[in-house]
Amino acid sequence: MKIINVKAEHNYQVEIGVEFSSAIKQICNNHRKVLLLAPASLIKLFKIKESKNLFLLPTPNGESQKSAQFLDRIWRKAASIGLERSDAIIGFGGGATTDVAGFAAATWLRGISWYAIPTSLAGMVDAGVGGKTGINSGAGKNLIGSFYSPKKVFIDPHFLESLPKRDISAGMAEVIKCGFIADYKILNLVQEDILDYPQLISRAVKVKADVVSKDFKESKLREILNYGHTLGHAIEKDSKYKLRHGEAVSIGMVFAAELSKELSNLSEVAVLLHRELLRNFNLPLSYSRSRWNSLSVLLMQDKKVKQSRLRFIGISKIGKPVWLEDVSLSTLAKVYERISK
Ligand code: GLY
Repeated sequence: MKIINVKAEHNYQVEIGVEFSSAIKQICNNHRKVLLLAPASLIKLFKIKESKNLFLLPTPNGESQKSAQFLDRIWRKAASIGLERSDAIIGFGGGATTDVAGFAAATWLRGISWYAIPTSLAGMVDAGVGGKTGINSGAGKNLIGSFYSPKKVFIDPHFLESLPKRDISAGMAEVIKCGFIADYKILNLVQEDILDYPQLISRAVKVKADVVSKDFKESKLREILNYGHTLGHAIEKDSKYKLRHGEAVSIGMVFAAELSKELSNLSEVAVLLHRELLRNFNLPLSYSRSRWNSLSVLLMQDKKVKQSRLRFIGISKIGKPVWLEDVSLSTLAKVYERISK
């Protein structure tokens, strides 16, 4: 088992290589009552049953669970089982489940313990770690939330065996991102014939844990985790969420690499490496030329825009992130040409 420490409003550990059932047992032994949130399909697949202090609340699938309505259902369930301050919530599922579980824990009785047991690769290396919790609303995605760290994160790589290939690839986009911003060894590991997932997960989690430990509330450094995400978020939205987050981020990373070549002298070899590694996982590398106008409007809504100035995370070489400030729309349009079709 590998343990990675995260420093935040409290310090906690990410345990990699633990069986999810023993994680649930451990949590139940440490709390009087535990409310487990998980998609109904997972509860059925893994035959999770209520016990004397474990209560279940099945969640809707995907992003629909990150709603004010569902949060209200969690609060009402918490009330009905008498969840107290020393009790706990578990988020068992993909990133949407751990996001809403963490936010429910942040808000119930002004904050109770919660645990993340991510079951998707993206959840293991990104959403489940770092303490960003929240829901969506009519105002937009992820605008309502809280920085509220879990008490522990348990990662069971066995889940990857039953994940569809497309979901593994989407998660690999975040792993590759960690390679480009901070750990070139990841970029070697993803090229091996047989992938060592526990090792890849550990290295990606370590990158995230180190960044979060230095800048939990994203005053600056944490923004590097958004490499490829500025255009990625716009593309995700423009595709009406038909593209997975990781797929949109893949295109966004090729764009960020091209922009880094333009503004920070990133080498052509490094740009090509982005394309090669992402292509190996069947991730998309380009987007429709005709969508630029719509994307440029969406870019202005990015959280990193300050006083109407567009900012991007780039890299000047592998492992060396840079902040590309006040990038003009004409530069962006020129660079978009290189990734559009
Ligand atoms: N997903 C980026 C972050 O947690 O900051």
